[in-house]
Amino acid sequence: MQLVSIDHSELGGALARQTQDLLDLAFPDMAGQYYQGEIPRKLILLLDDDTVVGHLAAYIRQVSVGGEPMTIGILGGVAIAPNYRGKGLSKRLIAAAHQFLVNANIGFAVLFAFEPERYLSSGYRRMTTQTRFTEHGEIKQFVYRGGMVAELGDRPWPDALLDLKGPTV
Ligand SMILES: CC(C)(COP(=O)(O)OP(=O)(O)OC[C@H]1O[C@@H](n2cnc3c(N)ncnc32)[C@H](O)[C@@H]1OP(=O)(O)O)[C@@H](O)C(=O)NCCC(=O)NCCS
Repeated sequence: MQLVSIDHSELGGALARQTQDLLDLAFPDMAGQYYQGEIPRKLILLLDDDTVVGHLAAYIRQVSVGGEPMTIGILGGVAIAPNYRGKGLSKRLIAAAHQFLVNANIGFAVLFAFEPERYLSSGYRRMTTQTRFTEHGEIKQFVYRGGMVAELGDRPWPDALLDLKGPTV
């Protein structure tokens, strides 16, 4: 099993096709459109021999937290192929994404989970404060169910309004 960290622009050929198949299976309602919004800063893929069995998209976003400008990481598109689930592989993807963010001097990672309990063991806790974001051109603001944050450095997350200045991922 091999972890590969690439730019979105490097995704081509068989790697791109297999990644698309994995994303279509994991997120059927977004079929074929996963990367149509913001382009991720880094893709972390997990390969078994030459087959893509895991995917994570890491974004870097200028946001504000409690009115303070801040650069954070946002993780999206966490997907593991069905036969490979339940073996701790999504945690390996998340750990690699955290390393990428730490190397970029980023102190916080945020994600918006379908199943928040899966991320507790990767250092995430639920955000209890409101998130402001855009959706279909409209600004929305509420406590986002599934919104979670991990502290990657020494600084504690300021429990205050997170303005994503864009959509969730
Ligand atoms: C969600 C998904 C990525 C998890 O991948 P995975 O490799 O099977 O997860 P892991 O084995 O790394 O498990 C992560 C944690 O979730 C826990 N977990 C596993 N299955 C679970 C379940 N059915 N319910 C609750 N927690 C579960 C694990 O125990 C582990 O926590 P632990 O370290 O405390 O034991 C995978 O199921 C998937 O691709 N699902 C479809 C796409 C999707 O929904 N992505 C998430 C978008 S937010």
